[in-house]
Amino acid sequence: MLNLSPVWKRRLLALFVLVVVVGAVLGFTVWYKFFRQVDDGPFATEEERFLYGSIDAESTAGLPYWIWVVLPRVFPDLLPGNGQGGYRAFGAPWEQGHEMPTGFTKKTIGFPRVANNCAICHTMTYRTQPDEAPKIVPGGPNHTFNVQAMLRFLTNCAADVRFNPDTLLAEIKQHTKLSILDKLAYRYLLIPRTKQALLARSGQLAWMNRPHWPDWGVGRDDPMNLTKYFLTNMPPDSTVGNADFPSIWNLGLREGKNLNWGGETPAPLSVIIDSALGLQADPKTVVNQAKWLLGFLAAKRAPKYPFPVDPVLAGKGKVLYDAQCGSCHAIGSARVGTVIPIAEIGTDPNRLDTWTQEAADKANAAVAKLGIQRVGLIKTNGYQAVPLDGVWTRAPYLHNGSVTTLRELLEPVENRTKVFYRGYDVYDPVNVGFDTSSADAIRLGFKFDTSVKGNGNQGHLYGVTLSAEEKSALIEYMKTIGPTEGE
Ligand code: HEC
Ligand code: HEC
Repeated sequence: MLNLSPVWKRRLLALFVLVVVVGAVLGFTVWYKFFRQVDDGPFATEEERFLYGSIDAESTAGLPYWIWVVLPRVFPDLLPGNGQGGYRAFGAPWEQGHEMPTGFTKKTIGFPRVANNCAICHTMTYRTQPDEAPKIVPGGPNHTFNVQAMLRFLTNCAADVRFNPDTLLAEIKQHTKLSILDKLAYRYLLIPRTKQALLARSGQLAWMNRPHWPDWGVGRDDPMNLTKYFLTNMPPDSTVGNADFPSIWNLGLREGKNLNWGGETPAPLSVIIDSALGLQADPKTVVNQAKWLLGFLAAKRAPKYPFPVDPVLAGKGKVLYDAQCGSCHAIGSARVGTVIPIAEIGTDPNRLDTWTQEAADKANAAVAKLGIQRVGLIKTNGYQAVPLDGVWTRAPYLHNGSVTTLRELLEPVENRTKVFYRGYDVYDPVNVGFDTSSADAIRLGFKFDTSVKGNGNQGHLYGVTLSAEEKSALIEYMKTIGPTEGE
């Protein structure tokens, strides 16, 4: 034992106390600056929570808020179009008076971070005429949003020499005055770490950037390949499964049915869990988040058709619908929400072929390993007969978004448009779908070519032999398919 004088003992004790106190202050500062979770709610309505609420993806996928703010300003040349409008350039709806576009969340975990939620793909906008503000429909398909362009923008920024602390902090200074500690954190930790993380993401997405690979375009992604490459270590293969964002309301009716275009997920809660994991939600809280989302989406109804409807004509159309379409599509019918074999439905098989039994087994094992219990993914041999409540919102039609309007869906393949422009949100009440051919639609839209792999517009030949009057009646009825809000 060391024999210390009382003076030295006191000095050592003082030093010890100092170390503990400094350690505690440091520990607290580190916790406060990097880990302190601040709830992003409460939200005024459930819709607001759906549009802007965190699903706990910020800790893994969150971009430090100030980096998120300045990227479009530092890299306007990497934005699509003319480099204006920030994140609007990707087609994300932005409500008046809101800090973030729909589908973007802001939550403080130590520092404010930005991530995405379901609304980025599952919120629709439309206009009844060009000179009005877009209406925002939570749960509808975001046919204007280009996820792929946003992913490419973020990863291209990270790969650029301008993505460095000096350049980003100089731009951040134009928007806010960071404390000295925050500046240090951004300079030495957040900017380098974010760059690293985005470059790693770029590597994970290399499969979609292969030369001559078909672009997703607006309103679509490659969902089963994303699931496959994200959840399993299977090597990239040659399949292309670009699929349209669906509407996701009235999910209560889908219990025990097949969900996803290929019907690969036989339970709504499982689709939601897997989608949230795809957004890098925290596996520890994902089931609770998914339960809230399911409750919200089960109660949500399609919006009413926003133009006048001729009730007499619609009545005639209902008779035709019940006879020719209801067996597969009517809510409560035997085949709705079940898989119709590809040989029978005859639509483009590429999306179906992206998924395999091996992928299902490996993805299920990966989710189980995260400690999450859910009904697992399966392999099917066709496409799901989707319920058609609010079908007017779902244009362009079919799983790959290859048929412009309801009127064209009732035409044989040779009469369906082969090249059109999608992503313009002005509605066409004559043909029932979005305007895909006006000068503005061409200027602002994504060029959709049905000859590209996965974009085929063949199949689903129901109602094609009806007379022109019968088709108009059927379309009139389809404008009204509910249940819609208030029903
Ligand atoms: C990046 C875009 C994107 C995001 C984000 C996203 N989804 Fe989806 N979602 C899709 C696509 C594409 C499909 C169709 C998949 C397919 O091809 O089967 C889909 C399918 C679904 C379906 C099945 C619909 C049906 O009729 O079968 C539900 C339910 C759903 N998503 C809910 C959610 C929820 C809840 C979230 C958030 C946790 C979410 N999605 C996040 C793109 C997205
Ligand atoms: C044998 C079953 C079956 C019958 C009958 C049927 N459909 Fe379909 N329908 C499907 C399937 C399966 C899909 C999905 C196919 C795909 O996307 O590849 C679909 C898709 C659709 C879509 C596209 C939905 C979307 O979100 O893009 C519409 C609209 C539609 N059907 C309308 C009709 C109409 C109108 C009739 C009657 C004239 C009809 N269907 C008859 C099975 C059927």
